[in-house]
Amino acid sequence: MLSQRANLISGSKTSGMRNLAARLKAEGKPVVNFAAGELDDNISDVVKHAAIQAVIAGNNKYTETIGIPELRQAIAIRLSQQTGLDWSADEVAVTAGAKQALFNTAMMLFNPGDEVIIPAPYWTTFPTQIRLTGALPIFVDTALTGYVLDSAAIAEKISQRTKAIVLNTPNNPTGSVIHADVLGEIAALAEQHGLWVIFDQCYSDFVYAEAQHLNILQIAPNLRSRVVIIDSFSKSHALAGWRVGYAAAPKALTAACSNLQSHTTSNPNAIAQIGALAALEHYDSRYHEKVLARLNANRQLGLQILQSLRDVEVITPEGGFYFYLNIRCKINGQAAEGQISNCAQLVEHLLANAQVAVVGGEAFGDLNGLRISYAINESDLEQGLWRIVNCLNAIVEPR
Ligand SMILES: Cc1ncc(COP(=O)(O)O)c(C=O)c1O
Repeated sequence: MLSQRANLISGSKTSGMRNLAARLKAEGKPVVNFAAGELDDNISDVVKHAAIQAVIAGNNKYTETIGIPELRQAIAIRLSQQTGLDWSADEVAVTAGAKQALFNTAMMLFNPGDEVIIPAPYWTTFPTQIRLTGALPIFVDTALTGYVLDSAAIAEKISQRTKAIVLNTPNNPTGSVIHADVLGEIAALAEQHGLWVIFDQCYSDFVYAEAQHLNILQIAPNLRSRVVIIDSFSKSHALAGWRVGYAAAPKALTAACSNLQSHTTSNPNAIAQIGALAALEHYDSRYHEKVLARLNANRQLGLQILQSLRDVEVITPEGGFYFYLNIRCKINGQAAEGQISNCAQLVEHLLANAQVAVVGGEAFGDLNGLRISYAINESDLEQGLWRIVNCLNAIVEPR
């Protein structure tokens, strides 16, 4: 009955777990929800007031397909400051979240049979969108190199059919940041083989300690005609439900994305665009400093608690707001009620026995991982992490 395309996709596992945890909580179960990929902070007053004013002023019409010119101009200014290159409004396409920006990009760049290299663990949506275009995702397993991206591993996967490399820094789910040397090496590969780089920097506002976020164009401005920058207001401004993101790319690509968007969603939400514009024009540094300080405090508290885990590797996140655990030793482990033989069973076991919702690594192309969001309130974080530690420590390897 359904199309062949329908068989290529199943629902996002991260959204699935987030929804299940919310449902259990609404039923009164004491579930700590570590599954959501969003901040639990409120939005800045600046953004709130701009949106309320926009409603009162009667902003009820369709907007320009790829966003109001003022917002695209403000994003272009921000990108010019970040990359040190000139950007214009017509190189920016505003979308309903970065998810649509990535989808538009994939639809307008890839042909059936093209290969697209994706480092794994990856954000769950990248390969699904690529498959929908008929192209093939080709994975580079960073678990083999301590979850740090190795350009030699990318080079090995490049073939005659490779069209693009997807880079996500800071990475969801591992929190790894791609450092300047590796970015430079990957840029050189892209230049040498004529590849596109899809550069997803949705978590760039959240980078800790010694790490520093770099845009690939700061390292390799020569790649300008083949880079698509993907970004979002969902994480940086706690606006996930408002759905505003963007792709910044050469004009031919943003024009093609505009054509596609004109037949799909018509335009991003008018009120949300005005809120996003206020967020850029009246940057509320106190709000952003507060959010980052809270995330960093959660990160430190969490890392301290997770030190009590036995036989589980905890990747120290340099950015983003997730802990990522390598739970290989717990799979094939013995719990009180029986054997646990894969990641999905471990996730179910944690939900049933520790009342915590986490996302299993299968969602990220890794059979040995668990993702735990620490963008939640401190008391839930502390309680929930201790429950995870105790529950995982109680799983022992069978003799
Ligand atoms: C790496 C990455 N890219 C893109 C997105 C999409 O964000 P949104 O569509 O909410 O802007 C997410 C959301 O979790 C993400 O983690």
